[in-house]
Amino acid sequence: MKTIQLLDKKFALSIPEEKILEKIALVADKINADLADKNPLFLAILNGSFIFAADLMKKINFPCQISFVKLASYHGTTSTNNVLELVGLNENLAGKTVVIVEDIVDSGLTMTKVIELLKSRGAEKILIATLLFKPSALQHDITLDYVALEIPNDFIVGYGLDYDGYGRNLKDIYTVI
Ligand code: IMP
Ligand code: MG
Repeated sequence: MKTIQLLDKKFALSIPEEKILEKIALVADKINADLADKNPLFLAILNGSFIFAADLMKKINFPCQISFVKLASYHGTTSTNNVLELVGLNENLAGKTVVIVEDIVDSGLTMTKVIELLKSRGAEKILIATLLFKPSALQHDITLDYVALEIPNDFIVGYGLDYDGYGRNLKDIYTVI
C-alpha cells in the first residue's frame, strides 16, 4: 500500500488518478447531454477545485464560459455576523444557468452559502457538479446534480484537496490513516 506523510499525518492511496478520470468522464457525458443548449457558466470554487475543473472542462464539448471564484469570510462587528462573499465574480448572472464546480461536499454548508450568494446575484438556475461527496456527513438540504465519486466520511487529500495547504499537487487521492 502506497503511503505518504504530510505534516503530522500519514495517508494511504485510496483513489488512483485513472479511476478519478474515468468518473469525471461520466459526469462530463451527462453534462454534455443535459446542458449543450443552455449556454451555462461554469463557476469553479478555488482553491480545491482547480484540478477537477481543468480535467472536467477539457471534456465539455459545447461552447461555454468558465470562471473561478473564492469564498471569503469577512469579520463583522461581532463574531456572529461574519459575512461570506464570492471574490472574483465579475459576470452578470441575470437569467444564467450556473454550474458550480466544487471539489468536495462534506456537511453541505459551503454549497448552501454559495447557492444563496448566486441566487442573490440573479442566477436563474444553479446546478452543482462535485468531484467528491461524503453522503454520511451531509447536514444541509441540497441537491447534487453531478457527483463523480461518493466516499466514506474520512479525511482525504490530493487532486486539488489539501491538508493545511499541502497535498493539492498529488495526482491521486489519499485517505488519512
Ligand atoms: P462543507 O461546507 O462541510 O460541505 O465542506 C466543504 C469544504 O470543506 C470543501 O470545499 C473542502 O475545502 C473542505 N473539505 C471537506 N472534507 C475534506 C477532506 O476530506 N479533505 C480536504 N478538504 C475537505
Ligand atoms: Mg473547497
